[in-house]
Amino acid sequence: MDFQGDIGLIGLAVMGENLVMNLAGHHYQVAVFNRTVDKVEKFVNGRGKTPSIAGCRSLPELVRALKRPRRVMMMVRAGTAVDELIDQLLPLLEPGDVVIDGGNSHYTDTRRRTRKVEAAGLLYVGAGISGGELGALNGPSIMPGGSAAAWPLLREMFQAIAAQLPDDLPCCDWIGPDGAGHYVKMVHNGIEYADMQLIAETYEVLRKMGKLTPEAIAGVFGEWNRGALNSYLLEITAEILRKVDPVTEKPLIDVILDCAGQKGTGRWTADSALELGVPLSGIIEAVQARSLSDDKARREMSARLLPGPALRPAAVSDQWLAQVRSALYVAKIAVYAQGFQLLKRAAKEFGWPLDYGRIAGLWRGGCIIRAIFLNEITAAYRRNPELDNLLLDEFFRRAAAEGQEAWRRTAAAAALSGVAAPVLSATLNWYDGLRTAESAANLIQAQRDYFGAHTYERTDAPRGKFFHTVWSEAGGGTVSGSYDA
Ligand code: ATR
Repeated sequence: MDFQGDIGLIGLAVMGENLVMNLAGHHYQVAVFNRTVDKVEKFVNGRGKTPSIAGCRSLPELVRALKRPRRVMMMVRAGTAVDELIDQLLPLLEPGDVVIDGGNSHYTDTRRRTRKVEAAGLLYVGAGISGGELGALNGPSIMPGGSAAAWPLLREMFQAIAAQLPDDLPCCDWIGPDGAGHYVKMVHNGIEYADMQLIAETYEVLRKMGKLTPEAIAGVFGEWNRGALNSYLLEITAEILRKVDPVTEKPLIDVILDCAGQKGTGRWTADSALELGVPLSGIIEAVQARSLSDDKARREMSARLLPGPALRPAAVSDQWLAQVRSALYVAKIAVYAQGFQLLKRAAKEFGWPLDYGRIAGLWRGGCIIRAIFLNEITAAYRRNPELDNLLLDEFFRRAAAEGQEAWRRTAAAAALSGVAAPVLSATLNWYDGLRTAESAANLIQAQRDYFGAHTYERTDAPRGKFFHTVWSEAGGGTVSGSYDA
């Protein structure tokens, strides 16, 4: 074959196919392969019928159709499929060639695979790609990480097909070594969970306490979307709430079953936060809210049996709406503050030199969490690249000062009415915990020392010096050390 492919793409499912169309649309020559070869035939004789796309019937044929150094991108189901493909590709490729995984792989797999492929003399890239089907076609947000030497070989192509912002910055940049790209994509997904849940909680407050119709809430969200809360998710939510079901002629939202699905990336983010010891209550609560929602039968039974307060309707006014809006805004800031804190901790753990301002920039276009507000995060990290917590930045501190009262009132009113608002209230509790210089954790330490002789540090002694008290006659003098059981 005399086809001189710029890149070979394996896996013609939804994301793969649309990425190929995007690449071809940017004048790249793309060789394609799919395990079920019929899909290759179907694609190159249908939607992909252009001289820029060559269908291949085997991996050796795909590899032969590529320019050197070869760039081979896998867009296949995450998990063993990626390992199997790497094993099949390695003998076909040469040192200096690049293997890219554009799927939703777990970052630990990407770390392991980077080591393996690099040991064979090749380059490996784990690229998180966000934006779904339309993003893949028209410009996704791309978060590549792995072998640094691969970036100059991919930069032009990846930045060309990524979403472009008005300031000409592409939503694609090098994230860092081994699993950094997939990690950042994972945290993006976690933030997406919390962002969606916060909008849903706000909707429920407006619907149940404000007695507003979906149509009216669509108007409120549309209005908010013109300000600091401008985001893709708020925009589509307003559209969703306006949709009428053609069968029942009710708002479509009222005939959609309230059981939320999940594919697992939110849980991965939560797992990582628990493992690294980073508070991530916004995202964790969002994941758990989906699990609880999915347990419809138990909720229906409990709704009959468990007592709750009478709903206290809100007097709907511009002032009340502004209060709910502020609560959403500050809680959203808290979610991002937690998410970036997790990134910072992971960067330290895995030795990744992450550029947080640029990461926020990559999420401004192409992906699901794109929002005006991300500009402020970029600005905060430009002001201080070492910023410990977003909320400590002057802009966000001011936002918290202006919005915290509304946040409290909204979370408290929801609680008093028995309307669950887990992310709104969990983030508020985190915020208050964060600003509590002297907490009740001394009591936890005393309890641990009492029942397990775990020892404690004293306020009047240097850190690192441990004490034990014989709390009762039954207790001995043996201490268990300062490990965490
Ligand atoms: P979807 O994204 O539509 O849910 P999927 O089942 O996750 O699809 O599979 C995505 C892609 O991974 C498909 O191109 C699939 O190839 P087939 O069309 O042959 O099913 C590919 N894929 C899954 N497992 C694979 C494997 N072990 N080796 C190679 N490709 C594989």
